[in-house]
Amino acid sequence: MTVTDRVALRDLAQRSVEIIRANQGPSGAYLASPSFPVYRYSWLRDGAFIADAMSRSGDIDSAEAFFAWCERVVSARVDRIEDVLRRHAAGEPINRADFLPTRYTLEGKEVGEEWWDFQLDGYGAWLWALDAHAARHGRPVEPYLGGAILSARYAAGLWEIPSYDWWEEYPEHLHTSTVAAVQAGVHAAARWPAVEEPLRERLMASATAMRDRVVADATRAGRFTKWIGSDAVDASLISAATPFGLVEPGDPLMAATVAAIEAQLVHDRGVHRYTTDSYYGGGDWLLLAGFLGWQYARSGRTADGFAELEWIASRATSTGELPEQTPDHLIAPEARDGWLRRWGPVATPLLWSHAMYLTLALELGVEVPGRLR
Ligand code: BGC
Repeated sequence: MTVTDRVALRDLAQRSVEIIRANQGPSGAYLASPSFPVYRYSWLRDGAFIADAMSRSGDIDSAEAFFAWCERVVSARVDRIEDVLRRHAAGEPINRADFLPTRYTLEGKEVGEEWWDFQLDGYGAWLWALDAHAARHGRPVEPYLGGAILSARYAAGLWEIPSYDWWEEYPEHLHTSTVAAVQAGVHAAARWPAVEEPLRERLMASATAMRDRVVADATRAGRFTKWIGSDAVDASLISAATPFGLVEPGDPLMAATVAAIEAQLVHDRGVHRYTTDSYYGGGDWLLLAGFLGWQYARSGRTADGFAELEWIASRATSTGELPEQTPDHLIAPEARDGWLRRWGPVATPLLWSHAMYLTLALELGVEVPGRLR
């Protein structure tokens, strides 16, 4: 790689920090995308990865403002959470509308339009990000503990209920990447000294049950599967190791999962979500190239990690904005126009794409100017 290439990668990492900062509200919430009407809201899933990237870049204030926002959003719904947990424990039926939503306004209010609720992964993912941030910078978790404990109890209490996946689809299944996110968050909370017994023990037992269930039932032919009972692959499965740590990056299960993702979801660089994706024609997702590159970097495949980073950078617009996906190798080209008519051009910039670029750049040792440490 030439010096010029390296400078370009560094500049895009800096641009990513700027774009993320510019789209964080005074409340601490991050917009998923400022220019795409249905994404002008904050998702816990996207936000967790964005806050994690900002924390890695040294922007403690940005990450902590997001965690404080999560804390307030969850705490404000304490009665609803206690009610849902009580009804679930009593075996009573629960309407989807009674669960907490997937996306919120920047002010932490419900959006008031129908969406693909309910999704559980974000309620674990932000705890994972908070825990990693606290460890990375020696910061306390106490300021967020009220909402964090509620979120952990909510996710640990409901994890066996099928929910919409990372892609807001297939609500009738128990999704591997959803359980991985919940497991990571609950496991983190179970190790905080500020969480008292017997809750700590209960959370730890739930996290162990989640891990055991995924390893036993969401695997086939030596690799992870998209959901329990399927044999399909999904690129979100990378998260089972990187970053959610259900298994180590070098675990044979993960090596076989990555091999299946490479065989079925990667053309050259850039990664499809799953083999039958038709959203905007089913393009290559930048944030998934970020996850794959991150997994490569963590398992010693540094050159492949850089190749993913460079591929993402090559898809930036002239103003350094990263889209959600690119139409290089569409799975279902005939489906693209319908989405363009319905919601307009592909979301650009997508903050989650910038977050995964930044995470991968930092993992590979690309220096970000103005980094605080
Ligand atoms: C994706 C979700 C994401 C949301 C906001 C959806 O199209 O499927 O994973 O959270 O956009 O970025």
